[in-house]
Amino acid sequence: MNPSSPSKRLACSSFGTVNSCNLDRSVPFLDLKRIHAPLRERIASALVGVCDSGAFVLGPEVERLEHSLAAYCQVSRAVACSSGSEALLLALMALGIGPGDEVIAPSFTFFATVSAVVRLGATPVFADIDPATFNVSPLEVARLVHHATKVILPVHLFGQAAEMEPILAIAARCRIAVVEDAAQAIGAEHLGRRVGCMGDIGCFSFYPTKNLGAMGDAGMLSASSPEIAEKLRLLRAHGMQPRYYHSLIGINGRMDAFQAAVLNVKFEFLENWISERSEQAETYRGLFQEFGLADVLRLPTASPRARHVWNQFVIRVPDGRRDALRQHLADRKVGTEIYYPLGLHEQACFRHLGYAPTDLPETFAAARDVLALPIFPGLTRDEQYVVVARIAEFYQTTKSRSQVAAPLFLSRSVERISSSLPEA
Ligand SMILES: Cc1ncc(COP(=O)(O)O)c(C=O)c1O
Repeated sequence: MNPSSPSKRLACSSFGTVNSCNLDRSVPFLDLKRIHAPLRERIASALVGVCDSGAFVLGPEVERLEHSLAAYCQVSRAVACSSGSEALLLALMALGIGPGDEVIAPSFTFFATVSAVVRLGATPVFADIDPATFNVSPLEVARLVHHATKVILPVHLFGQAAEMEPILAIAARCRIAVVEDAAQAIGAEHLGRRVGCMGDIGCFSFYPTKNLGAMGDAGMLSASSPEIAEKLRLLRAHGMQPRYYHSLIGINGRMDAFQAAVLNVKFEFLENWISERSEQAETYRGLFQEFGLADVLRLPTASPRARHVWNQFVIRVPDGRRDALRQHLADRKVGTEIYYPLGLHEQACFRHLGYAPTDLPETFAAARDVLALPIFPGLTRDEQYVVVARIAEFYQTTKSRSQVAAPLFLSRSVERISSSLPEA
């Protein structure tokens, strides 16, 4: 097949600067090579610097990163650690969480948010989400707080800050600590305050897929209290101070200097990458509108009270058609992901907690509807066009379960492109 043959090309002049797109092209869900290629020399030189320094665990690169990120996150202290998962564990350890304690957390999140709770012998209490933002519902949190609650653990999911004001108010009234899981959301804000600076402790991940990603595992804790920061610092290195004297039982949760060196190079570009992601989110919005799909699918909501950093662009696919759409896109080499196919309350390892799947109806529904589309620095407008055109093609060529025909406006949009699509 000749990818540039006219029959395979689509005039897209009605959309911004996109002039024509080859709809046969594949679109990766994430391409880290595009992010790293322009930084190759600088990263390589930073890594050589670490080799030459001989300081491989903690050390100057890690300290530099801690200073930059504390300022960026509007906190007085940042404590670098080995991963976002260990950050969560360390945060709960620093707050003395253990058996008999309850921690309120969303079920619609990555496993690590809650595994940290269980690893310490405490009990997670799952709160349902606000279906508009996917973030934990403050009303649910208020409903679940009781005397055994020691921590509220909101997650700033997909890059959007949770509704922190009411959560902080509940915590203050009941004297409960707040640990923010900001793993996906560095740079996000709620009412002008950066994630990680609002609760007692913030937990960040630099897993490679994150907006600021290392080249391996790495994480960070933020705290405004010097006492808490000092405890976190001790706990991340076996509670050892001075050398071989242990006042606390900590863990090996130290960051290695290679990861810090990479992150120090990449940190300079974080704000530009966030801007690029925000533009891509707007581009998707325009394209879904253009194709008449904005009311067929549910597009992600960005709260006017928050600064979304778009770690993920997650749509909702109604009528039980998410998996079929995903397959349609996969067959045409358009990458997507499902974050998350099950709420944690449905996971086999948490069955002993006694939740029925529909005990958290919004989480249950979201897990069956959500589909994350490609969004990353370097993704082109043409590629975004292909993603949305392929989704339009799906709705044109298949009928919904309820056998409702595609809306007329959608049919018209798709008619315009159908001649340029390959055989399904
Ligand atoms: C919401 C959330 N919490 C915690 C983590 C754990 O971070 P890490 O992979 O760095 O251990 C992640 C990582 O994917 C996450 O998305």
